[in-house]
Amino acid sequence: MNVHAPLAAVELDPATSSFAADVTAALSQSPKKLSPKYFYDEAGSQLFEQITRLPEYYPTRTELGILRARGKDICSIIPQNAALVEFGAGATTKVRLLLEQCSFGAYVPVDISGDFLAGQAEELRKDFPALDVLPVNADFTTTFALPDEAKAMPKVGFFPGSTLGNFDPHEACAFLRSAGDILGKGALMLIGIDLEKDERILQAAYNDAAGVTGEFNKNVLVRINRELGADFDLGAFVHRAIYNKERHRIEMHLIAKKPQTVHLLGRSFNFRAGESIHTESSYKYSLERFAALARGAGWESKSSWTDAEEQFSVHALRAVE
Ligand code: AVI
Repeated sequence: MNVHAPLAAVELDPATSSFAADVTAALSQSPKKLSPKYFYDEAGSQLFEQITRLPEYYPTRTELGILRARGKDICSIIPQNAALVEFGAGATTKVRLLLEQCSFGAYVPVDISGDFLAGQAEELRKDFPALDVLPVNADFTTTFALPDEAKAMPKVGFFPGSTLGNFDPHEACAFLRSAGDILGKGALMLIGIDLEKDERILQAAYNDAAGVTGEFNKNVLVRINRELGADFDLGAFVHRAIYNKERHRIEMHLIAKKPQTVHLLGRSFNFRAGESIHTESSYKYSLERFAALARGAGWESKSSWTDAEEQFSVHALRAVE
């Protein structure tokens, strides 16, 4: 049984206090389940960049291959002088492929990290001097306003990397609805979605031989220890990624190797041996199942492209009038 005591009376800034509230709620549930958004502090973002270069992790290079090979087709459906609105701003490799191949009037990267966004915008302005780069510092999963300069332009959303796959289906629908409200009727959306495939390929991609995914998974505990003063013993948890066939998703877990108690902000959380913290789901879709999900959220499928082995897909959706 967990001991429920009020959070210790320490001054926390608003971001840390909402992290603390989410973590304590997550550890109080049964089964314990944390949001994958907490993976991405600086160390976590660097570990994710390493994952994208692992031989077993096919999604990044496969999506890049599709964007390269199908660039002409993709550009042929993009209206002249459109604003390209990217939901989240990671490495610029993918958006550069679009910016090099198609002509856009403006690029609007939306990200919660203002410093990262500013650095990225600076680099792009240097490399694409004719392009209006208009960063928006906001959480892209919430409603935000587009910059005035972009309002009159046709809109094209961009959400690569199968990040949508980390949302549970109801969250994915809510995100697509909100993106439709922000971009407006008639807007296009280019979205990268990982496909269902042989389970062995999925298992390998999330249980890589070098152990980088395990380190990425455990980094959330490192972060909870550092930012919230918890005492997770990292050696007492093990990374596990399993494929849940019925739910079409890879699940990442951190499994307690032995019974233990973790202390956090004046509270205690007990773990049984073998008990898990579910840290991430990564949903895999068929082309049809994804088109149906998008349709239910106000987007019709216009085109989709895959690699020759049908491992990954890029969809062009249109916001229904
Ligand atoms: C960011 N996201 C799409 C990755 C994925 O494949 O679900 C995160 C990740 N988790 C483990 N490896 C990569």
